[in-house]
Amino acid sequence: MSTTKAIRRVRKAVFPVAGLGTRFLPATKAIPKELLPILDRPVLQWAVEEAREAGIEEFIFVTARGKEAIADHFDAFPALEEALATKGKDRLLGAVREATIAPGKAIYVRQDAPRGLGHAVACARAAVGNEPFALLLPDMLMHDEPGCMAGMMAHYEKVGGNVIAVEEVPRGDVHKYGVVALDAARADAMRIIGMVEKPAPENAPSTLIISGRYIFQPEIFAHLDATRPGAGGEIQITDAMQRGIEAGDPYHAWRYSGQTWDCGSKLGFLLANVAFGLRDPETADALRAYVHRHLCEKA
Ligand code: UTP
Repeated sequence: MSTTKAIRRVRKAVFPVAGLGTRFLPATKAIPKELLPILDRPVLQWAVEEAREAGIEEFIFVTARGKEAIADHFDAFPALEEALATKGKDRLLGAVREATIAPGKAIYVRQDAPRGLGHAVACARAAVGNEPFALLLPDMLMHDEPGCMAGMMAHYEKVGGNVIAVEEVPRGDVHKYGVVALDAARADAMRIIGMVEKPAPENAPSTLIISGRYIFQPEIFAHLDATRPGAGGEIQITDAMQRGIEAGDPYHAWRYSGQTWDCGSKLGFLLANVAFGLRDPETADALRAYVHRHLCEKA
């Protein structure tokens, strides 16, 4: 395919939420890790809001047994709204409504077992259909104004094809992430010519890591079909992307420079809560005083 094709609007976003969340056990025995709160919203809701801000109209969740609370969270709750309205709790009423996805606009599909991110995305195929779509990994909490996906969408509207958000990290950290290789001859265009999972720093083709936000053309599904399980028996999305690149599909990197927290790890989750707590007028002053008292004075 080529970028000269008409650029089709991205209306749908996929959120893979079928993982086991083992790093947060036992908290995630009964509660999906995607519903653990960062300040007053589940981490997943922050990603849904980011997608909504970018113009996404349909929200596809790849879910699993035991994660039914995710659908409840985004469902309307008339009795609760009525109770809040009667008590005049307008701010909370607004917050509850903001957490609701309009009827018919949330689609839940099941992944039978956690067979990897690539497999989770393939499970969304019928719901996505033959059109471009966004993929947001909810664990990766991203904060910027405008949001990461909105920035990617503006770029996509110019270049089309597949757009992958990338972030600069110190070379010593690249071994933890997927890293892109850029076409040196077209560095300005940020054209991706390859990607490697968790390279040794000395072998990394760049210091730009894939940060959890993607815009894909539907061709990715055929590449996922052809991708065999890799590391840990899982189907990796990076392997399917690499196939697409080799087949000549255009892949563009888009540089994200806002803040990111990996809320799939305990430390990232805690840091995100501190950062969001320091921004919230209700908690900022007391939290700052606490941090100062307990950390700065002891240092
Ligand atoms: P992670 O690998 O971080 O999630 O996947 P996990 O496997 O639940 O985490 P740990 O390592 O056991 O703690 C990133 C996102 O992809 C989803 C997860 O739910 C998470 O939102 N995912 C992952 C799936 O939907 N299916 C999978 O097979 C794997």
